[in-house]
Amino acid sequence: MTSRTQTTFAPPVMEARRWLEGVSFPDNQPLINVSQAAPVDPPPAPLRAAMAEALELPETHLYGPVLGLPALRQELASQWSEHYQGTLTPDQVAITSGCNQAFAATIAALCTEGDEVILPTPWYFNHKMWLDMSGVVAVPLPTGADLIPDAAAARSLITPKTRAIALVTPNNPGGVEYPDETLADFFELARDTGIKLIVDETYRDFDSRPNPPHPLLADPNWDDTLIQLYSFSKAYRLTGHRVGAVIGHPNLLAEIEKFLDTVAICPSQLGQRAALWGLQNLGDWLAGEREEILDRRAAIHDHMPLIEAKGWRLMGCGAYFAYLQHPFADSSATLAPKLVQEIGVLALPGTMFMPATDPSGARQFRVAFANVDRAGIEALFTRLASLDWPLATPGPAA
Ligand SMILES: Cc1ncc(COP(=O)(O)O)c(C=O)c1O
Repeated sequence: MTSRTQTTFAPPVMEARRWLEGVSFPDNQPLINVSQAAPVDPPPAPLRAAMAEALELPETHLYGPVLGLPALRQELASQWSEHYQGTLTPDQVAITSGCNQAFAATIAALCTEGDEVILPTPWYFNHKMWLDMSGVVAVPLPTGADLIPDAAAARSLITPKTRAIALVTPNNPGGVEYPDETLADFFELARDTGIKLIVDETYRDFDSRPNPPHPLLADPNWDDTLIQLYSFSKAYRLTGHRVGAVIGHPNLLAEIEKFLDTVAICPSQLGQRAALWGLQNLGDWLAGEREEILDRRAAIHDHMPLIEAKGWRLMGCGAYFAYLQHPFADSSATLAPKLVQEIGVLALPGTMFMPATDPSGARQFRVAFANVDRAGIEALFTRLASLDWPLATPGPAA
């Protein structure tokens, strides 16, 4: 017998942490950890103070509404309507215990055993893991050298069992921001074929574009096709408080309510109050955070020549991530623990974001740079440039 959890692999970030065991890092070469896409600093002091006040409210310690606090649903709906220049009402918003749960609840509401969901590759591994554990087939949609998925290629993968296509933009692990035409093409494809388009916008607050990243919410009937997912983890550094959101048709949210009621009953009351306070008060602070992330992204581009000269290539860069092709003969899966031992760098290999059938992950690494400042990025690239491992024989350009 194979249990549900046995159908999938172990959590990649945990596995990578084990590579650190027994390795010591000299003072002149401390560990540079670019493995995890989570802010390490606590939320800003005013938000912590607001949370301390919220702790004094009796209702913070009780169960709340399954689909989240009405005030938070309302605030999110009104800010989203403005940001995306569209129309979103509170009954189209559900609050979840983080964006991973938002994805899980959405899949539970849409799919049954044997259904199919299309995921561009490289994919976000927790999406793949949840589909595995749900008995839903993750159908890979390879993206090629620019990491941007193609709706025409997706069309040929749609079968009577396809329920949805799930996109992540800005992308984890690829960093790329999907052009608005890409989103529009996928939306049209999904509507045309009667499936759903799930768009995980966990990193939307760090998108470099000044304009709305897509026009989808401006369609008056967007909720017949689009399901948008969001996370409060990155924007306000609330990772430990587990707050996310699903935006979709009220009928879908009624299905999702069954899942949420059974799994968590309600999202964290303290976390939700923190998210609401953040939405209402931290706009300027978040704009500053975005500027800093955009500067770190620029630092990646500035230092690329150091490693380009050694045969590396930058495939994608944005939000929290740079996605790199390395020049070495061995697989990134073999090289990742060696990066820790030899140059004190912890990064995830592309193999963790690819189906086993796709060999391209062996040539790739994800660098999650959000916690590394400019000086750290320079140190990272200097260390990568120092590697003298055997090179792959040149093949056709990927
Ligand atoms: C694409 C994507 N979705 C969801 C999540 C999880 O977010 P949350 O902390 O809100 O569950 C992450 C976190 O790394 C992510 O990269």
